[in-house]
Amino acid sequence: MEPLETKTEATAIPRIGDNAPAFKAVTTQGDINFPSDYSGEWVILFSHPADFTPVCTSEFITFAHLEDKFKKANCNLVGLSIDGLHSHIAWLRTIKEKIEYKGMKDVEVKFPLIEDISMEVAKKYGMVQPGESKTQAVRAVFFIDPKGIVRALIYYPLSLGRNFDEIYRALIAMQTADEFNVATPADWNPGDDVIISPAGTCGVAEERMTSTEGLDCKDWFFCTKKLSKDTVLNALLKK
Ligand code: BEZ
Repeated sequence: MEPLETKTEATAIPRIGDNAPAFKAVTTQGDINFPSDYSGEWVILFSHPADFTPVCTSEFITFAHLEDKFKKANCNLVGLSIDGLHSHIAWLRTIKEKIEYKGMKDVEVKFPLIEDISMEVAKKYGMVQPGESKTQAVRAVFFIDPKGIVRALIYYPLSLGRNFDEIYRALIAMQTADEFNVATPADWNPGDDVIISPAGTCGVAEERMTSTEGLDCKDWFFCTKKLSKDTVLNALLKK
């Protein structure tokens, strides 16, 4: 039986709305000071279990292929595993030189990959989940906003490769919520109707049901409005 303290430390997970835990780290792109280096921009901090493993390799090729798309949405990518810097460098070189996945080849990973042999960062972000592995990080994804606040997190087990379209969709949906003061319904994508915040008073509830001003109210608490794909993308994406 492990001491309780070790277990607690290894599984502490920052919550939505928390300040992203700060750290300094060595990466494949030089030293970083997190999250202050990314102030004013979104950043996705994600962990993978280990270098030179197949699911992780497919994920890195996919994420690197999409990096420019995330950059256009003012979002940086930062990876992490409990491996050393030289292992990271060797793996990224092998990916570029030898590995093709779903037609993506010659892929250069340009975003920083953190070395975290000490597990310091992995523990701060609850990426080591001992029931799954005591030595490898699970597949965690933290969405951190321009103010350094954790806005969403996703955790997958070692065997399950992530869906990067969903990671991008979630980013754009949160940015849309911030920009237009709306919420986004199930399976929302840019161009779909958005949800306006539920009525907080009886008066507003009544207004919602009687006003015809651009709202589609199924009932007083469930109102949507149109928000065109162009409006969303023009507001969010860099030209
Ligand atoms: C993989 O990336 O292929 C992998 C890593 C750890 C456990 C299982 C699979």
